[in-house]
Amino acid sequence: MDRLAIIGGRPLYGVIPISGAKNSALKLMAASLLTEETLTLENVPRLADVSMLLRLLNQHGVESTFEGSTLRLCAKDIASTEAPYDLVRKMRASFNVLGPLLAREGKAKVSLPGGCAIGARPVDLHLKALTAMGVKIDLDEGYVFAEAPDGLHGAEISFPFVSVGATEHAMLAAALANGETKISNAAQEPEIADLADCLNAMGAKVSGAGTQTISIEGVDKLGGVTYRVLPDRIETGAYAMAVGVTGGELTLAGADIDLLGAARAVLEEAGLTFTTDEKGVKVKKALDRCRSVDIVTHPYPGVATDLQALFMALMITADGVSHIKETIFENRFMHAPELSRMGAQISVDGQTATVRGVEKLKGAPVMATDLRASMSLVIAALGAEGQTMVNRVYHLDRGFERLEDKLAECGALIERISD
Ligand code: UD1
Repeated sequence: MDRLAIIGGRPLYGVIPISGAKNSALKLMAASLLTEETLTLENVPRLADVSMLLRLLNQHGVESTFEGSTLRLCAKDIASTEAPYDLVRKMRASFNVLGPLLAREGKAKVSLPGGCAIGARPVDLHLKALTAMGVKIDLDEGYVFAEAPDGLHGAEISFPFVSVGATEHAMLAAALANGETKISNAAQEPEIADLADCLNAMGAKVSGAGTQTISIEGVDKLGGVTYRVLPDRIETGAYAMAVGVTGGELTLAGADIDLLGAARAVLEEAGLTFTTDEKGVKVKKALDRCRSVDIVTHPYPGVATDLQALFMALMITADGVSHIKETIFENRFMHAPELSRMGAQISVDGQTATVRGVEKLKGAPVMATDLRASMSLVIAALGAEGQTMVNRVYHLDRGFERLEDKLAECGALIERISD
């Protein structure tokens, strides 16, 4: 199992290219099932999660080529409407093939994804949306057996709380449904608008994406297009926070800082400055030591739960006390005890972590537990004295493209050790 050895204390200077957003690319890839024509996606990050979904799509009969960051997908014939346990359990986003398979073939058998380290993460809202669209669903042996022999029809879908995945799933299914679908209490994440833009380029009629109400007028057919995935806002936030820990100055090439929503102002309050030009975003640390700031995670445009662990890494050496409240997932502070091994002072009480900033961290062996938690350990390690060994980095390979190369090119002492 690979590990990362990081010797902290070096400021970061240079240019880091920001990759296409993983969370968007995965849903756009699922959209390829909706057309017989070729969907060409540009700016697709080369990540383990993308490879995993590609394997699943290939297994459904999707033909693909992946050159550089351009992924071509052609679902001319659907060879199989079954998504097996092994390919869905490792990555929840795979579950989103269910709607497109139903829209194309009228039936599908897709494994339930199961929980993961950060929480139970059920898919009841996904199933509720599909049921409203006329899908008959049976759950048996860990699988969803779904049928829509007369096709999908438009529906009024009102989510009791915001779910990114369920909103996207409903949009994918509704694009080819008969009639109009209205989604209320929809997620407003930038990746939702990205999916709508891609679907519309393919010939769909989606309006309102990026607001709480999305309308989709179903069409008979979608066609192939070339579409560019939007930049990854979580990766952008991660490298910005790394500068907050190490000092220096980075240009985040291709980034769009406004995609961070409320997190941008939080990072500015903590002491980072952002300037935007045609190349991307320049990030600098305006203070010797960052200021402590409180955050509460919320659906977009609130501070993203995916930034929470990274933000904690910034706060542990900040000046003052920070309260970090997680409201989206029930078990998302697993990085706290690992950060404490490096000298951080964190106490967790239910949904809130209290972080008392310390002047210095000391490197230690630590273990990555999930994708974003792993990146928080890397950020903390970049600012710590001495060596930190981050174990189980396969989590990072799921979501951060060329992490150690990008950081090393900007002066970090970071090395991957493969045993
Ligand atoms: C997506 C992102 C993930 C991010 C999350 C919240 C992808 C691939 N992943 O995950 O990085 O952390 O949004 O911004 O895009 N829930 C239910 N029932 C459902 C669906 C969700 O109870 O049917 C709950 C979840 O357990 C969670 C909350 O709703 O507590 C929000 O989850 P959701 O927005 O659906 O997250 P994902 O789409 O899985």
